[in-house]
Amino acid sequence: MSLMDLENLRQKALACRGCSLRQGARQVVFGEGNPRAGLMLVGEGPGAQEDELGRPFVGPAGELLDRILVAAGFKREELYITNVVKCRPPGNRQPLPAEVQACRPILEAQIKLIKPKIIVCLGAIATRTLIAPGASITRLRGQWIARDGIRYLPTFHPAALLRDAAKKRPVWEDFKSLRDVYRALQAEQLSLEFEQ
Ligand code: URA
Repeated sequence: MSLMDLENLRQKALACRGCSLRQGARQVVFGEGNPRAGLMLVGEGPGAQEDELGRPFVGPAGELLDRILVAAGFKREELYITNVVKCRPPGNRQPLPAEVQACRPILEAQIKLIKPKIIVCLGAIATRTLIAPGASITRLRGQWIARDGIRYLPTFHPAALLRDAAKKRPVWEDFKSLRDVYRALQAEQLSLEFEQ
């Protein structure tokens, strides 16, 4: 992937008026991280702090996500983080199906350009958008789903953990599983490099 392609896509997203969310948002929160990341995290949509700073997961849910990532041995710089919708829904409501559909081509293009091996779906909206429209996050969380060469792992959204501490344990289990699968993939790739 050329970095230019991702930058072109970002420019397209910044100019997008495909739904009405842009009118109420300060800015487009495109996503950030390693453009060659093997691991992508997809949330729901920007909140107040994200809207203000133009970066994903920098508010309270983001702080909790950072702590989980560090505990699981990940550096934020090694992954790519984005959301299903790139503009903040008013009052932090869930994005409407039409808004998700309007933003979907951007998310799909990000996935095509970055080509992650693993995508973690943070919460129901990301899970329904990327895995199955009617999916129940409670039923699906923690289950690896392989599709089109990508392994998807649905888990609860970090904001849900702030509301319900009982969700912390299962999410921690999911991130331990993520760590193991991701590190095994990395080791596999490294050994392929040396065997060539
Ligand atoms: N919640 C999300 O889903 N995404 C963010 O970027 C912040 C909070």
